[in-house]
Amino acid sequence: MKISVVGTGYVGLVTGACFSDAGHEVLCIDNDPKKIDLLHKGVMPIYEPGLDEIVARNVKAGRLKFSTSIAEGTAFAEVIFIAVGTPPGVGGEANMTYVEQVGRQVAEHMTSYRLLVEKSTVPAKTSEYLKRTVLKYLREDTDFDVASNPEFLREGTAIEDATHPDRIVVGVESQRAGDLLEEIYRPILKKGGGQFLRMSVTSAELTKHASNSFLAMKISYINAVARICELAGADVQQVAKGMGLDPRIGPRFLSAGVGYGGSCFPKDVDAFVRLADALGHDFKLLKEVQQINKTQREYVMKKIKQELWVVQDKTIAIFGLAFKPETDDVREAPSLYFVPKLQEMKAKLRAWDPVGEGKFKEIHPELECVQDLYECAKDADLVLILTEWDAVRKIDLKKLKEVMACPVIVDGRNIFNPEEIRALGFTYHSVGRN
Ligand code: UDX
Ligand code: UDX
Repeated sequence: MKISVVGTGYVGLVTGACFSDAGHEVLCIDNDPKKIDLLHKGVMPIYEPGLDEIVARNVKAGRLKFSTSIAEGTAFAEVIFIAVGTPPGVGGEANMTYVEQVGRQVAEHMTSYRLLVEKSTVPAKTSEYLKRTVLKYLREDTDFDVASNPEFLREGTAIEDATHPDRIVVGVESQRAGDLLEEIYRPILKKGGGQFLRMSVTSAELTKHASNSFLAMKISYINAVARICELAGADVQQVAKGMGLDPRIGPRFLSAGVGYGGSCFPKDVDAFVRLADALGHDFKLLKEVQQINKTQREYVMKKIKQELWVVQDKTIAIFGLAFKPETDDVREAPSLYFVPKLQEMKAKLRAWDPVGEGKFKEIHPELECVQDLYECAKDADLVLILTEWDAVRKIDLKKLKEVMACPVIVDGRNIFNPEEIRALGFTYHSVGRN
């Protein structure tokens, strides 16, 4: 089948590349000519493991093409996925400008039936606005559908998630729209397994909010438990293990740390709270999830302050800027909280991240970054771990101790064993463990 995907970011490009790998003919569109130029040259505009190979393979096979033109995309395929960004705008609400623009432009160029599919994380009820937009700008009297097909891709493992989905949720208003989407996903589900679920558009939109908010709640829950563990003299990792072996709870998303970040959880929880408010329900549970996440960063900051006493002029080495490993994405990353706060306190900062440096420096060009962990930690009074990169897990601790001015680690990701690391002579603070 022919498919157009608008937006070649983390979601759009992975989705388009995986559709083409499943045998479909895909045109990926982006209004940023620089990104399309890079893609024509075989360079990925984002870092996602394995993506470059899939793109190269399908471009070579002639199944994957790129363009800046929505007109071309509208003419090319009956089904058009919308995966443009929906960043938080003024006041925190998702900025829907780009989604609206895409809807309008598709409407202006549509001459026969088209199915517009929301793939971006959007507030529930977006489909109604999208439908209104299309109706307003439609030039020819033609039929169309709007569907919701939320993505559940995790950055860093997006290819695996896209090719082996647990479920494909589609919200549709017509048999035709549902059948088209089922045909698109058939080869992926046949190969990778997973269930195809048809439901109403609003239910599909809510499934996304409810799933991501639940996962965020799991993280905030374990972070709250971590604080109790510290007070009670327990170890949160042992508690999480004990809980997670119950299949009704499950072991995943029970890692305590500096709290969740990224482009989805903070935005999705916020959108769910706002939606509930608008519908007249005060979603207090999720407000608490947000509050715990916010104060979790402050909680780790307190450990730094208590340890250093005077923060001014202390050298702090930051290990990890990305919001999680295997991505260069820094949206809502804990580093964006710690760096300015520590700068305010006049600490001397030096940071390391294998791929997140570029995007972080777009926001904080002044931050000194180095590409070697030991150089980063040289003469440091404290190492702050914010992302559990493999290179950090595997660091030579003896060598680290030698280069530091003072062997102190504040570990926001609980990656070392407290007893072992203390036996090597480190002062070690982590989350929910004594
Ligand atoms: C996705 C979803 O779209 C977003 O709603 C969700 O919260 C996170 O995941 P992502 O792919 O990560 O976003 O965003 P980004 O990497 O910013 O990609 C969006 C792309 O759309 C960019 O390449 C941008 O250039 C493009 N774009 C934006 C358009 O092509 N047209 C526009 O009008 C606006
Ligand atoms: C998330 C969802 O998992 C995915 O289904 C959705 O489509 C997009 O949003 P992503 O944001 O890429 O994916 O990353 P994820 O692996 O879910 O991690 C989100 C944040 O939670 C990260 O900052 C991570 O460090 C944090 N986290 C995760 C924890 O603090 N503890 C955990 O146990 C798990």
